[in-house]
Amino acid sequence: MGTVRLATAADFESLCAIDHAAFGDHAYDRFALRQFLALFPRSVFLAESDQGEPLGMAIGGHVASGEPGWVLSVAVVPSARGQGLGRELADRLTRRLAELGARKVRLTVEESNRAGRALYASLGYREVGRDDAYFGRGHARFLMEWTAVSGD
Ligand SMILES: CC(C)(COP(=O)(O)OP(=O)(O)OC[C@H]1O[C@@H](n2cnc3c(N)ncnc32)[C@H](O)[C@@H]1OP(=O)(O)O)[C@@H](O)C(=O)NCCC(=O)NCCS
Repeated sequence: MGTVRLATAADFESLCAIDHAAFGDHAYDRFALRQFLALFPRSVFLAESDQGEPLGMAIGGHVASGEPGWVLSVAVVPSARGQGLGRELADRLTRRLAELGARKVRLTVEESNRAGRALYASLGYREVGRDDAYFGRGHARFLMEWTAVSGD
């Protein structure tokens, strides 16, 4: 399995490659991905093989005390799935957002994304709502939320 570490600007192309492999036409555009690296240098993670091959990423941010943190993306390239990497990435990101001060962490996920919903549920995220028009009419998303327990 891969090694998970914080990503830096030098990893930009690796993140773009993972994003495209996982999301295809729904990947972030390069500009947004580069800005996430600039905005959230302590909460963008990269998983890579021993040979430095990009395998997965987790991107999130926490911007202000009292606000929730957000998971913006968790993705594993198809060839590396089913080995625990997605869970490790999502867990590292959730814990990091909590360390940065988030008492709650939120994300949205497509209703049809069984793997994503099961992954987040296994880490303690609960489905707390559904926005029927998150991306416009007919494009619903589930809102999921993780809450820190006292002492976290
Ligand atoms: C979701 C994703 C990140 C999972 O990565 P992964 O490395 O295969 O996941 P893991 O091996 O760590 O599995 C962790 C848990 O996820 C869930 N899961 C993973 N693949 C699944 C599948 N095909 N069907 C149902 N649940 C699945 C399970 O709960 C699994 O736990 P288990 O193995 O104990 O059953 C990966 O499928 C992916 O990149 N998908 C495309 C991008 C995406 O949808 N991201 C999430 C929404 S932003």
